[in-house]
Amino acid sequence: MTTTLYDPRLESVLLEPEDIQHIVIRIAENIAVELPRLDAPLNVVGLLKGAVFFTTDLARALSDLGIDVRLDFIRTSTYKTGIKKTGETVRNVSISNLSGSYAGEQVLLVDDILDQGFTLSAVKNFFLDEQKASQVKTCVFMSKKLTNPSEEVRALRASFRVDYCGMEAPDRWVVGYGLDISDEFRALPYIAIAREECFR
Ligand code: IMP
Ligand code: MG
Repeated sequence: MTTTLYDPRLESVLLEPEDIQHIVIRIAENIAVELPRLDAPLNVVGLLKGAVFFTTDLARALSDLGIDVRLDFIRTSTYKTGIKKTGETVRNVSISNLSGSYAGEQVLLVDDILDQGFTLSAVKNFFLDEQKASQVKTCVFMSKKLTNPSEEVRALRASFRVDYCGMEAPDRWVVGYGLDISDEFRALPYIAIAREECFR
């Protein structure tokens, strides 16, 4: 399938739906190899809203590989709406919609994209330190290769490594497959690079 972009605010297609599907299956296989025989369910916890499609696709791919998956979603907010300004650092990550306790549980946190790293590192710390999960693994569909990170972000990205990552993304704003700009473009079945100048 070759997607045609009709919205002039989108520059190019980064991944077609079938590319996305292949990446999800590859990640699920990597996870299944590392977590071969769990004697307890794997709590797959997606970060809303961005990771909604990736989390459900990954959960089904893991189930297909025989993993006993419990699915949950939490809400995090780091950016309010729109695009971060270059060099901006976001520290306040608020977590809501937690449905139960994860004490002693095995958790796989799933997010759409690792950018500066604040969101997922904060959520991981929350599940380990406050929820007392026994193990917390992290998974992102994409990780941005930052071209000009601040010292703080560079240090965070160096110290916080995700366990599973589908692919490296360019340091651009990407949309589709859950990723948005002010809630727009989320439901696109492909991932596209946005023209950031159209949203300033
Ligand atoms: P971080 O805390 O800087 O790693 O930001 C990660 C969060 O920012 C992700 O959960 C996304 O919701 C959002 N985000 C970062 N980059 C993009 C992007 O290019 N498109 C859409 N959302 C993004
Ligand atoms: Mg997000």
